[in-house]
Amino acid sequence: MDKIALLTTGASGSIYAVRAFELLKEKYELHMVLSKTAKYVMSYETSLSENMFKEHAKVYDYMDFAAPISSGSFLCSFKGVMIVPCSMGTLGAIANGVVMNLIHRVSEVALKERVPLVVLLREMPYNKIHLENMLKLQEAGAILMSASPGFYHKPKNLEDAIDFVVGKVFDALRIEHDIYKRWGT
Ligand SMILES: Cc1cc2nc3c(=O)[nH]c(=O)nc-3n(C[C@H](O)[C@H](O)[C@H](O)COP(=O)(O)O)c2cc1C
Repeated sequence: MDKIALLTTGASGSIYAVRAFELLKEKYELHMVLSKTAKYVMSYETSLSENMFKEHAKVYDYMDFAAPISSGSFLCSFKGVMIVPCSMGTLGAIANGVVMNLIHRVSEVALKERVPLVVLLREMPYNKIHLENMLKLQEAGAILMSASPGFYHKPKNLEDAIDFVVGKVFDALRIEHDIYKRWGT
């Protein structure tokens, strides 16, 4: 089974992480970290807690720097790392090499080991520092995405819009799916 790290921060849009988990849990070995604020935002936005992930994923405490995924020797075998959703705070930390929690550590290890790192950002509007950090992180090798659904696949409801965004994250990691209708198909 391929391994994937699903990292969740305190940006709005916890539902994207929940949906990614639901779709990946049977086919991949999932390793998860939720930041302190991610837990708060998730319970506020979805009424769910990190406990729901524990049956199907290895869930690490966000301050556990001794977790296996904090080491390149373990993470180098992963198919990819995704930060879903990613706050501007976590973006700033990673882009500047600041490591204050396990999410930052896994991200910097992914970059050094050349494990694909996909970052699903959520904020509006952006300030200059956000934009500079985005460019820095992109130049360091990460794939940056915005949590902005397209409409050309004619979403009928919120679930369709969510699936479009999650599907684009999966596309970036070459994870097979059929959760949105591709253009021309
Ligand atoms: C309900 C709620 C929604 C938030 N939404 C966002 C957001 O969309 N984008 C963002 O960058 N920060 C957002 N924040 C602020 C972050 O949670 C805050 O900057 C936090 O320090 C991020 O820490 P983390 O990246 O370690 O999770 C939100 C906070 C709350 C309480």
